[in-house]
Amino acid sequence: MKIIVTKNDIQGGAKAFELFEKGIKNGAKVLGLATGSTPEPLYQNWVESDLNCNNLISINLDEYVGLKPDDPQSYHYFMQKHLFDKKPFKKTYVPDGTASDVAQACKDYDQIIKDNPIDIQLLGIGRNGHIAFNEPGTPFDIGTHEVKLTENTIKANSRFFDSIDDVPKSAICMGTANIMQSKSIVLMAFGEKKAHAVKEMIEGPITEEVPASILQKHPDVTVIVDEAAASEL
Ligand code: GLP
Repeated sequence: MKIIVTKNDIQGGAKAFELFEKGIKNGAKVLGLATGSTPEPLYQNWVESDLNCNNLISINLDEYVGLKPDDPQSYHYFMQKHLFDKKPFKKTYVPDGTASDVAQACKDYDQIIKDNPIDIQLLGIGRNGHIAFNEPGTPFDIGTHEVKLTENTIKANSRFFDSIDDVPKSAICMGTANIMQSKSIVLMAFGEKKAHAVKEMIEGPITEEVPASILQKHPDVTVIVDEAAASEL
């Protein structure tokens, strides 16, 4: 793993954008994208750039079950607002949180990833070491699946909702196996609340109890952390 420590999230986002821009100029066509507050500075740099995205395909990590694409709390909506409205892509994929057959929607998503192998996968990390919504205890060999969110994650993500009761209880998300098949991975983490998860991911044992620890086995991972998130390393 290559570790880059920046002063703050603004510099971290700028650094991540540099990596994406370089990757795209070198031929990356399929980008795995992520939501949450962590990637916001990256997307800010992206929309302010002159990077043309007309030939790019994006595949997002996850979506809440039950939220329509136009629901302001959905990850579809987040992506439109922060990136796609200003930088149109050739094609964008986000799991279908309203699918009547969730198991089929998961299979379809695996097929999309198979047909469009991901060149660069962007990741954040949860405070408990989750990546996408792969919570502690999720098998490492799993593909796209429906996941019940832990109390910890529901609480952390409730800051985006009017009330904690409005936070969906489950999500469709790419599995760790999908993520590990990406050619390269850029993971960002900012703030001291992420410091312990970052330490466990990089220095801890590889265990399903810390889903991000599997990244130690991937040949091309860059971790961008600010000084606070790096404070336990
Ligand atoms: C959510 C998302 C993850 C994200 C994590 C951290 O649960 N599903 O993809 O990495 O939270 O979010 P944040 O960046 O807001 O701290």
